[in-house]
Amino acid sequence: MKKISIAIDGPAAAGKSTVAKIVAEKLSYIYIDTGAMYRALTLKALNSEIDVNDEQKLIDILNHTNIELKHSQNGQLVYLDSENVTTEIRTSQVSNNVSFVAKHKEVREEMVRRQQEFAVGGGVVMDGRDIGTHVLPHAEVKVFLLASVEERAERRHLENLQKGFPSDLEKLKEEIALRDKIDSERETAPLRKADDAIEIDTTSLSIQEVVEKIMALAEERVELI
Ligand code: CDP
Ligand code: CDP
Repeated sequence: MKKISIAIDGPAAAGKSTVAKIVAEKLSYIYIDTGAMYRALTLKALNSEIDVNDEQKLIDILNHTNIELKHSQNGQLVYLDSENVTTEIRTSQVSNNVSFVAKHKEVREEMVRRQQEFAVGGGVVMDGRDIGTHVLPHAEVKVFLLASVEERAERRHLENLQKGFPSDLEKLKEEIALRDKIDSERETAPLRKADDAIEIDTTSLSIQEVVEKIMALAEERVELI
């Protein structure tokens, strides 16, 4: 059967990676979490005490940085220069700095180049902020997931508590809203729905319901090819 590309975009904690992983598994496609790549670079910048506003320094380190997304039985693992940083990239320090790193045009160009390389040949589900608009503009299925900021903060809060991470709901709400604002207002490839993307408001939908909607869109497209 023809393998297609599926682009899933949306604001923080809308459920993109959770549903993208399940859809990829169901279709036996590869899943690519582009946010993890920006997070890995942010972690390296913080560890190297590089200013997240210094585009030239960031691009210099990115050019000498290997970021790998590996698939394991326990889900996706993220490697930064051969070190497993799957957990470290999810700290609030990384979350609160990543949007500054992701603002820079040259950083984005290099990340997009790597992401497009991963996607050669199709059979991918990729999630992020600019997948439908820039990374995979010809993706056969484009979805834009939304949910209220309250719902998204609640989801992240619950997830943090389950993982044993410290979590403050009100602070999370503010941090998520600020990150969305920076991501939506940046000059290069801002967070926005592609004109041909299907918008799904997941506020009152279960993970299963969102997965079913995306699977139906994918099956429809595969039948048309
Ligand atoms: O999982 P969560 O929604 O918290 O964020 P993420 O997908 O891990 O992305 C982290 C950050 O990376 C975003 O807030 C954006 O600043 C940036 N990002 C981006 O600019 N473009 C992408 N394609 C993916 C992420
Ligand atoms: O990737 P993104 O930041 O958009 O969100 P996520 O990390 O996939 O999801 C954030 C949390 O919301 C996870 O704990 C999910 O289990 C939960 N959730 C969801 O993803 N979708 C729903 N419809 C309901 C809850």
